[in-house]
Amino acid sequence: DTSKLWGGRFTEATDSFVQRFTASVGFDQRMAEEDIAGSLAHAAMLCKVGVLSDSELAEIQQGLAQIRQEIAEGSFSWSIELEDVHMNIEARLTELIGITGKKLHTGRSRNDQVATDIRLHLRNAIDHIASELSRLQLGTIGLAADNSDTVMPGFTHLQTAQPVSFGHHLLAWNEMLERDYGRLMDCRERMNQSPLGAAALAGTTYPIDRQLTATALGFDKATENSLDSVSDRDFAIEFCAFAALLLTHLSRMSEELVLWTSAQFNFIELPDRFCTGSSIMPQKKNPDVPELVRGKVGRVNGHLIALLTLMKSQPLAYNKDNQEDKEPLFDTIDTVLDCLRAFADMVPAIRPNKEAMREAARRGFSTATDLADYLVRGGMPFRDAHEVVGKAVAHGVANGIDLAEMDLATLQGFSKQIQADVFDVLTLEGSIAARDHLGGTAPAQVLAAAERAKQRVNAR
Ligand code: ARG
Repeated sequence: DTSKLWGGRFTEATDSFVQRFTASVGFDQRMAEEDIAGSLAHAAMLCKVGVLSDSELAEIQQGLAQIRQEIAEGSFSWSIELEDVHMNIEARLTELIGITGKKLHTGRSRNDQVATDIRLHLRNAIDHIASELSRLQLGTIGLAADNSDTVMPGFTHLQTAQPVSFGHHLLAWNEMLERDYGRLMDCRERMNQSPLGAAALAGTTYPIDRQLTATALGFDKATENSLDSVSDRDFAIEFCAFAALLLTHLSRMSEELVLWTSAQFNFIELPDRFCTGSSIMPQKKNPDVPELVRGKVGRVNGHLIALLTLMKSQPLAYNKDNQEDKEPLFDTIDTVLDCLRAFADMVPAIRPNKEAMREAARRGFSTATDLADYLVRGGMPFRDAHEVVGKAVAHGVANGIDLAEMDLATLQGFSKQIQADVFDVLTLEGSIAARDHLGGTAPAQVLAAAERAKQRVNAR
């Protein structure tokens, strides 16, 4: 049949394959709530400027309220013949309230309608993501504060480098997340403008009030240019770029969790509820949750590239290509929320094996730099000190002992400058306590940094 909402100029029915191929209702119905909110704001504005009467507005409001109810109950019947969420709802409205339903689309197009719906949907998602991100940050900061003096080896090249506190390491994670939060807020701010009223591309001949609908829908203002309004999907790309970087960070944290839970590191325990077993090897407790989060970055990076490629070379203004924005965007939202939830639940439940961490730091000559600094304080040039300590380390490697385990006479064999007070700097606690400046790993600095980090999150 040719009975489409747009069927006036058509003489034959849509090919059934084309109908399925062009339909988006299967995935855009998740914007139903936003679509109804946009329609309510639009209708109220049309009434205010005299295009709809008070009674027509009341009918539309009552019809949309019923549709909202039907969707919530699951009794709304979505139809692929009606292509997308917008036309499904509009058609049902006309079914319910008759001729007045057909007036709702006055001064509007699906092009500005969909642009509005996506922004509302994404804004809502951003607000959920922001609160999950804050929850993860507070959990990370709390664990850091509890472990301000828990010594572990710090690594470069994954080789033991210098001792750090576990709390300091966790606060490094928090800094990554803090930047992610900032990027998310930047994205939200740039996105929060109303395209409603741009209509198909050129604006409309009705005396619409775009500021009114913008305010009603919680936008900061209305967009400037009608052509740009219906064709811009920058906000979706920016959000996916935020997501790609956040997931990159979560993948780095995941990688560390996977390493740390291994028998070879044994730095931490993850509670059983975040792990799974093996169907064949009875001894296994696998860190599936961090592994899966580590893997999710592939999906999210793919969506970012999909959207960049989708928008590349598109002429102004709206093109049907844009319908392809939704699945990557929605999957990115869902993936980010799941990964943040997993991490926000899991991180505060991490139990550090303090003895194993300490032992690993002790074994790896991690205080070698402290010994060199000690010699420099006594007047030796740093390069010479580096050489002296290198020889001492070689002796330790050959004899299976750490610097702190050598007796004074042995150490003095490498430099006469070494005195009994050297053992103060060779201890792990002495080493971390000495890095006592802004951004350093001294426990007092870590505690102060955790406090500042917590205040930043709580001030949001
Ligand atoms: N389903 C469409 C989309 O997602 C809505 C806008 C369609 N507009 C049009 N003129 N075909 O982009």
